Amino acid sequence: MKNKINKIKDLALKEVSKMKSLANLESLKIKYLGRKSELTNILRGLKDLSKDERKEVGEMANKLREEIEESIKYQVSGIKQRELGDIKEKEKIDVTYPGTKIKKGHLHPLTQVRYEIEEIFKSMGFLTVDGREVEDEFHNFDALNMPKNHPARDMQDTFWLKNGTVPRTQTSSVQIRFMEKNKPPFRIVSIGRVYRNENSDATHDFNFNQIECLMVDKSGKIMVANFKSVVSEFMKGLFGKGTKTRLRPSYFPFVEPGFEFDASCPYCSGKGCRICKGTGWIELGGAGMVNQNIFTSVGFSENKYEGFAFGFGVERIAMIKYGIDDTRLFYGGDLRFLEQF
Ligand code: PHE
Repeated sequence: MKNKINKIKDLALKEVSKMKSLANLESLKIKYLGRKSELTNILRGLKDLSKDERKEVGEMANKLREEIEESIKYQVSGIKQRELGDIKEKEKIDVTYPGTKIKKGHLHPLTQVRYEIEEIFKSMGFLTVDGREVEDEFHNFDALNMPKNHPARDMQDTFWLKNGTVPRTQTSSVQIRFMEKNKPPFRIVSIGRVYRNENSDATHDFNFNQIECLMVDKSGKIMVANFKSVVSEFMKGLFGKGTKTRLRPSYFPFVEPGFEFDASCPYCSGKGCRICKGTGWIELGGAGMVNQNIFTSVGFSENKYEGFAFGFGVERIAMIKYGIDDTRLFYGGDLRFLEQF
């Protein structure tokens, strides 16, 4: 009997010490200490033994029972410790580890150019003003010396809305809106979308952005020379110090005399290249001295004031600045394009 107990002891303690999982330890506990285990059987049979044997075997068996219980407890706590250690290792947070960066967006290239343009004008004392994108016929055309049936209206294919208003075809309407509320002297710049009924191609779209500039003061104070200096200062700010500006006579109903103005090509410095189609110059916009009819249409007396106005496209400036050959890229939403800016 004593031999049997010692055998159980050897086997049980060895098996317990090797066990690595809590579930398996539980079944070992049943195997060695459960109701059907050998040890329980021995204890149950004590009553059939002689008095001396009962005492001796009983003590041994009970001691072994305790020993096995102890060793299982010890093993269980070891396993739990190890598991905790694993969790600690797996879930530990290294606060010094560099984080995953969240991708930041950035301003659209047209917005960047717009801000840059506004900055340059601001440095010359111009006030930035806002206009309306939907205009009435008076502010978009009539007040700008383009009455109904004026052939100049044909230059701007127009989306007419049913109620007679138009998505503005030019930011020049801002001139009227501003002068209805403000008296000279002033210098303003206004940037925003305009809409024309054009087919989309590499250099045209049904919507684009224009910059409008207007500087007015008492008669005799503002001349073409002032216009030329403002515009060439602007070009230098945008395309670099060496940029030259030239004026060519042209016609717009709201200016007299009227010009178109060009900048020397920033890519070839005027020598002629693919961007400027070999001419050395890049056409930028329209300009001129404000026609007196414009002043009278906002209620100013004739010949009391003089000033200049000019307008040009933001997309065109951005295309030249960044060497982009298709204006539709600005509106395509293609991230491969946008992420380059
Ligand atoms: N509004 C004209 C256009 O869209 C440009 C312009 C503005 C011309 C101001 C002269 C003066 O074509």
